[in-house]
Amino acid sequence: MSGWGRYQTAEEMEVGRRYEYGLEFVPVLYKWLNVKPGKLIVDVGCGSGYFTRILARGLREEGKVVGIDPDRLLIVEAEEIAKREGLSNVEFRVGSIYEIPLPDNYADLVVCHIVLCNIPRQFDAIMEMKRVAKVGGKVVVIEPARGGGTYYPDERLNTLHREFRKAFGIALDKGWRQKLDMSNYIEDIHLKLPELFLKAGLTKITFHGYLSTFLLCDSRHNIEEMQKYLKDRLDLWRKLKERNRECAIIGGMTAEEFEELFQRYVDYLESMVRNPNKIRETAEVEIVSRVIICGSKEK
Ligand SMILES: C[S@@+](CC[C@H](N)C(=O)[O-])C[C@H]1O[C@@H](n2cnc3c(N)ncnc32)[C@H](O)[C@@H]1O
Repeated sequence: MSGWGRYQTAEEMEVGRRYEYGLEFVPVLYKWLNVKPGKLIVDVGCGSGYFTRILARGLREEGKVVGIDPDRLLIVEAEEIAKREGLSNVEFRVGSIYEIPLPDNYADLVVCHIVLCNIPRQFDAIMEMKRVAKVGGKVVVIEPARGGGTYYPDERLNTLHREFRKAFGIALDKGWRQKLDMSNYIEDIHLKLPELFLKAGLTKITFHGYLSTFLLCDSRHNIEEMQKYLKDRLDLWRKLKERNRECAIIGGMTAEEFEELFQRYVDYLESMVRNPNKIRETAEVEIVSRVIICGSKEK
């Protein structure tokens, strides 16, 4: 049992990833992963099912995606979100990447998205994914690369957020990950993936990258949609105040610094939720980078 969902809630995963894969990029992703109608796909460590649903849409109702996660709480939420979005070709099961509850040679594609950077036995995980892939099928791993960041057009907010992210990371490594029997965050996993794939005997390896860039005032965005997104962030920030305060203090921030950050961020978000015209003038940026490695199972 992972228990991850108590520390990163399904809602947090969903809001945080909302604009990660742009519509222009998704067809490229499908091409690299060979996602086509009729395929049988397994998404291991699926969490709230955010990536599972991207895969499912690529099947256009022919074929199926099975999402697997050790956290029962996240599986229940993933089922609800998929149902709400009207996706009929997904199913979710409780299970671990070290012991996937599916037979040998089961799927055309076995993928995991931002999982290996959090667990200690990555090679064992890849071998287990390979077991579940069909002969001729694909194993795909997607992990964060090191580039990226968030920028708020407010110097003090940037400084406090930077401190908070650092403190949050320390708190997670100290408490949460050890309780969950996970390794500390593995920063350079993206560099080691090709070596692990070769060692696992995967063939026809292809290695790709994706840089997700989000600018709040991007002229292509619909303002009402951005207002809703900011409102969701604001609600989430308020809801998670106590957990965030606890992590900030474990990680070395003072209670005063956290309170200042909390209020400053509330004011920042609230000003745009109340007055959406401000959105077009706000140069908030978020950059996220991913490495995508694909390999084939020959035998
Ligand atoms: C950063 S989240 C990524 C969730 C999802 N793939 C996404 O990208 O939105 C990491 C996920 O790995 C799951 N996890 C942790 N240990 C695992 C294990 N041994 N086997 C499979 N999944 C695991 C957690 O429960 C969590 O849902």
